[in-house]
Amino acid sequence: MKVLIITGSSHKNGTTAYLAEQFIKGAEEAGHEIFRFDSADKEVHPCIACEKCHGDTPECVFKDDMQELNPHLIEADAVVLVSPIYYYGMSAQIKAVIDRFYANDAFLHGGKKAVLMVTMADTSTETANGAAASFRGMTKYLEWEIAGTVIAVNCMTQDMIRNTVYPKQAYELGRSL
Ligand SMILES: Cc1cc2nc3c(=O)[nH]c(=O)nc-3n(C[C@H](O)[C@H](O)[C@H](O)COP(=O)(O)O)c2cc1C
Repeated sequence: MKVLIITGSSHKNGTTAYLAEQFIKGAEEAGHEIFRFDSADKEVHPCIACEKCHGDTPECVFKDDMQELNPHLIEADAVVLVSPIYYYGMSAQIKAVIDRFYANDAFLHGGKKAVLMVTMADTSTETANGAAASFRGMTKYLEWEIAGTVIAVNCMTQDMIRNTVYPKQAYELGRSL
């Protein structure tokens, strides 16, 4: 299975990086092929809704790092989103990537699994409700099957997440895809 994992934090040693690593470990052990796209290290312009991608010559006006991602996005059997919670939603870095799915909309419906993993400082999973609703909405619209979620509370730093249940959840989700 081709697995695309998109991360949304600048922290190389952060909580989401750790969950991503654990997920990848499990997925690779299960024989899946991984492509990782760290959106915080990439140049991805926010969508400006110019609709050129839905015009006569359908193409995005921005020639940025989405050009690297697009073939992997279209071919992926599973798409994994990993984001810190920023003000009750996913980070701007990963949201910019998701919004740019719009240019490939015609090729993305159906046939994919989807995973959401989020981390946050708060101790209540309610803080992830916005990100989870956005994920549910987009998977319903794109007709992707939700393979699982990891909602990691009380995890401000990597030290805080290491000894929790969440890394194992991420690893097992990767293995069970
Ligand atoms: C701009 C910003 C906004 C944040 N907003 C929230 C929030 O609304 N709720 C929360 O629980 N944690 C919030 N946090 C904390 C992060 O979600 C938390 O530290 C997370 O583990 C960071 O992930 P990372 O280490 O992968 O970057 C925020 C952090 C930043 C930098």
